[in-house]
Amino acid sequence: MRFSTKAIHIGNEPEAPSGAVTPPIYMTSTYSQRDQSEHDYARGINPTRTRLEQNLAALEEGKHGLCFSSGMGAITTALTLLKKGDHAVVTDDCYGGVFRIFTRIMNRYGIDATFVDMTDLVAVEDAVRPETRMVWAESPTNPRMKVVDLKELAAIAKAHDAISVCDNTFASPYLQQPLAMGIDLVVHSMTKYLGGHADVLGGALVMRRDDLHEPLKFAQNALGAVPSPFDCWLVLRGVKTLAVRMERHCDNAEAVAKFLSGHPKVERVLYPGLPSHPGFSIAKRQMRRAGGMMSFVLKDGPRTMDVLKRLGVVTLAESLGGVESLIEHPASMTHASLPPKELEARGISAGLVRFSVGIEDGEDLIEDLGRALG
Ligand SMILES: Cc1ncc(COP(=O)(O)O)c(C=O)c1O
Repeated sequence: MRFSTKAIHIGNEPEAPSGAVTPPIYMTSTYSQRDQSEHDYARGINPTRTRLEQNLAALEEGKHGLCFSSGMGAITTALTLLKKGDHAVVTDDCYGGVFRIFTRIMNRYGIDATFVDMTDLVAVEDAVRPETRMVWAESPTNPRMKVVDLKELAAIAKAHDAISVCDNTFASPYLQQPLAMGIDLVVHSMTKYLGGHADVLGGALVMRRDDLHEPLKFAQNALGAVPSPFDCWLVLRGVKTLAVRMERHCDNAEAVAKFLSGHPKVERVLYPGLPSHPGFSIAKRQMRRAGGMMSFVLKDGPRTMDVLKRLGVVTLAESLGGVESLIEHPASMTHASLPPKELEARGISAGLVRFSVGIEDGEDLIEDLGRALG
């Protein structure tokens, strides 16, 4: 089965005995064990969740899927693979919540992290220590849109007996399948492209390795950051249109990137689909298309928020990956938890804008941006 067919059919098989084409939402906290023993308590198992987990495993070319109440719920659970004394090498351009959990929570449990620019694979090798057990990547990264060579990264992690992880939220499994490139564990914020309609929070882990699934399944139940059956149903519904949505996100993003690149008020556009982007050739190799996310830098940094507040079709808001275009200012919004020194070191300047290009008519988006930029 090909991607779009799997997205619609895996986990969505008609329900017996009614034949309902759309899966039911099992709103139950517990199960009668008189005639069955597989289902005991809903933190551990829920049939709507199981359907979504099967669907995501298929879309990522994985074997096992596990779903959570948020992306951070998935990430926290993944970090239970580490123990006191372990070390992780983490992309320096990561979602702010990942930086926060490594530097303010995991450090209190004796787990150390080194943040490196993963476009420099020598720097990754140099950061590895004898106690390194995890290599944590995003590609493209949030918000600088760096593209990491996932095949090479997976090989480095494997050589050092460390678990390679890729947060695939920005690309979605339609555009990029890290497990097929040798990555051990895929992370998703389902809140974004998988849900696709800005109406649900969720997270997922997908893997092939049984030896990772077993402890993570245990931790899913033990930590308890599980999604509601209704939220699982919303994501299952959202995923059915993932392929067509992603194609339109890419069409619009390509047009917007071209427009912004030629605008006199814009200093630089960071979009992996532009030949001027340093990760263009790696993105071409490992992604189907360059995606719906981009960042750009305004020449007049201090006036960035004034420009963003003038937008009409595009909404000034955090989050990404929904049908509606969202724009935000990382330095004061999504990445505000980073200390000023870290913001500067990562190039998250006053003029940097992150844009989640939606699936509205691309012409309306370009007109709106043109009006706001003046
Ligand atoms: C790349 C990435 N990973 C993880 C997360 C966390 O996901 P959630 O907000 O669903 O907890 C986000 C949230 O913005 C994200 O952008």
